[in-house]
Amino acid sequence: MKVNKAVFPAAGLGTRLLPITKSIPKEMLVLVDKPLIQYGVEECLSANISDIIIITGRGKTAIEDYFDRSIEHEILLKEKGKHHLLKSVDEISSRINLTYTRQKEALGLGHAILCAQNMIGEEPFAVVLSDDIIDSDIPVMKQMIGIYKNYRHSVLAVQRVKDEDVSKYGIIQGREIGKGLYAVEDLVEKPDLSDAPSNLAIIGRYILTQDIFGFLKDTKPGKGGEIQLTDAIRSLLSIQPIYALEFEGTRYDGGNKLDLLKAQIIYGLKNQETRSGLIDFITSEGLISAAKAPGGGV
Ligand code: UTP
Repeated sequence: MKVNKAVFPAAGLGTRLLPITKSIPKEMLVLVDKPLIQYGVEECLSANISDIIIITGRGKTAIEDYFDRSIEHEILLKEKGKHHLLKSVDEISSRINLTYTRQKEALGLGHAILCAQNMIGEEPFAVVLSDDIIDSDIPVMKQMIGIYKNYRHSVLAVQRVKDEDVSKYGIIQGREIGKGLYAVEDLVEKPDLSDAPSNLAIIGRYILTQDIFGFLKDTKPGKGGEIQLTDAIRSLLSIQPIYALEFEGTRYDGGNKLDLLKAQIIYGLKNQETRSGLIDFITSEGLISAAKAPGGGV
């Protein structure tokens, strides 16, 4: 069955990016000129997935506002003849079917996905954590759909991480069956390095069969007291195969300050409007001497 729907869990508290996430959802942080969540939505569109289900929570109305039509902007831009900007304002909303549901309490990623069960029904679906920013030639979801079409089972995006980072991720144990493609044999959430079966970490893109919901319902709070998606996927593995794709692309953790800054620079360098000014700035003497100066307390 074709994958038509994508779930975007966006109800987390974003504590690592406080204080900005007190009032701006992490998913709405800007990367050059668009919020993080829009990059994820565009990735889905490239894989022909246009039914988008966003899981929101308290303080997340900015996401809903963003995807609404902005009539005021449309009128103003039409009056001023700024037709090129008009396209950027509402184009994305017109290309997707959007639904929202709320996770009343941030009980974990697994619980957030369970909130979408009624909207998914009996079909496989994608999950996108839009704070995982992935810069790639072929959008990652498109790479994953390619695998799904061949195997018709769940597919996880994985990436090799350094030893010191293993304990921050869900880690898979897998048997390589093709270039960068693994048949998953086991998975464990945030293991100590000594218990980790590999360095292959699960990153925020998934294709899951609907059977996951039965396991999510039964999953008890795990690491950090949250209902962990990884634990439910582990149970899913007991009844059907799961594949993991070491995707091509560079991933930035948008929930981490340094990575977010790096992504800003990379995406700024790819943007026609900002590229040359940014190169001038990065290579300027002033910046180099500022970099050599001792760090401040900003
Ligand atoms: P994260 O753990 O990266 O997000 O969850 P967080 O909890 O918002 O951030 P920190 O760790 O406190 O800084 C991964 C994704 O799952 C969503 C988040 O919004 C994010 O997209 N999530 C997490 C939920 O929707 N609900 C939850 O209960 C937890």
